[in-house]
Amino acid sequence: MKTQFEHISVLAAEVVDFAPQATQTILDCTLGGGGHSRRLLEKFPEAILYGIDRDLHALKAATDCLKIFENQTRLKQAAFSELPECFENWEEPRFDYILADIGFSSDQLARPERGFSFMHEGPLDMRMDPDRQHLTAADLVNNSSEHELLTILRSYGEERFARKIVSTILAEREKKLFETTKELADMVSDIMPRRFKKPGFNPATLTFQALRIAVNDELNELGILLKEAPSRLKPDGRLAIISFHSLEDRMVKHQFRKWENPCVCPTDLPFCICGEKPLGRVLTRRPVNASASEVSCNPRSRSAHLRVFSFSEITS
Ligand SMILES: C[S@@+](CC[C@H](N)C(=O)[O-])C[C@H]1O[C@@H](n2cnc3c(N)ncnc32)[C@H](O)[C@@H]1O
Repeated sequence: MKTQFEHISVLAAEVVDFAPQATQTILDCTLGGGGHSRRLLEKFPEAILYGIDRDLHALKAATDCLKIFENQTRLKQAAFSELPECFENWEEPRFDYILADIGFSSDQLARPERGFSFMHEGPLDMRMDPDRQHLTAADLVNNSSEHELLTILRSYGEERFARKIVSTILAEREKKLFETTKELADMVSDIMPRRFKKPGFNPATLTFQALRIAVNDELNELGILLKEAPSRLKPDGRLAIISFHSLEDRMVKHQFRKWENPCVCPTDLPFCICGEKPLGRVLTRRPVNASASEVSCNPRSRSAHLRVFSFSEITS
């Protein structure tokens, strides 16, 4: 079993550059190995940093990484959906900067026993918090109805071969239940038509992505974060979100637009009567992407999109 935490923080310089100038309080919602948090505390050595991660292993790695800042960090194992409880217990009511670098870490992917990777043989698990989450990817594959599996693969994976994959799962699980990552990955690879196989792209990529999103309820989690963040930022506070696939990026983009322009009046009305007021402005018209040199050092950064919103009013 690996002992070191394997993860390179993406867009780290950009995350630090977007922090408000006199940042005193930070909330890192995805500590991972603590890389972003550490860079932020190096830039703002007086700041207090609160941090969560739903993965206990990540929390331990972040605690080690931030050891020299231990007097100014408050770290907790929690999911975004537990933020309301965290806010009740923390003394800090509002933050200057909230960061979320969502999705999974390279460390989770690199540990076969976590079951995230189609590259390694491991249990078909994919839970970010195996102690408190009950549903595994194997449970979904072995017990979901045809309709449920189709919805997962289509909605979260945008997998064009969803029907074929699901009908094979249904037939195979009658003979033997799926237990390991390799069993599922090999099955998807076997049924994928050769002409649709692309070099460097494992045929099971979208199936695994879809199952991971479903197991960890990732889109609902992001929705909760987007709901909670505005009332937890100080005036001029900023929310920075890094996402790795289009479903999440779309959610962030639309929410930011809505905060910037919440008016719901018909467009032909000469003035606004709905009374909805903008919460601030989008600082990133287009998502910030990794530079060519970052991608060459860390290929995973290729699909990272950073969006930042600056709040202008106290909202509650
Ligand atoms: C990309 S990594 C973060 C890496 C980190 N920024 C760094 O620099 O090391 C994403 C982390 O978010 C955590 N995570 C994902 N969804 C979460 C959620 N809903 N609530 C809390 N943590 C979550 C994962 O467990 C993972 O450790």
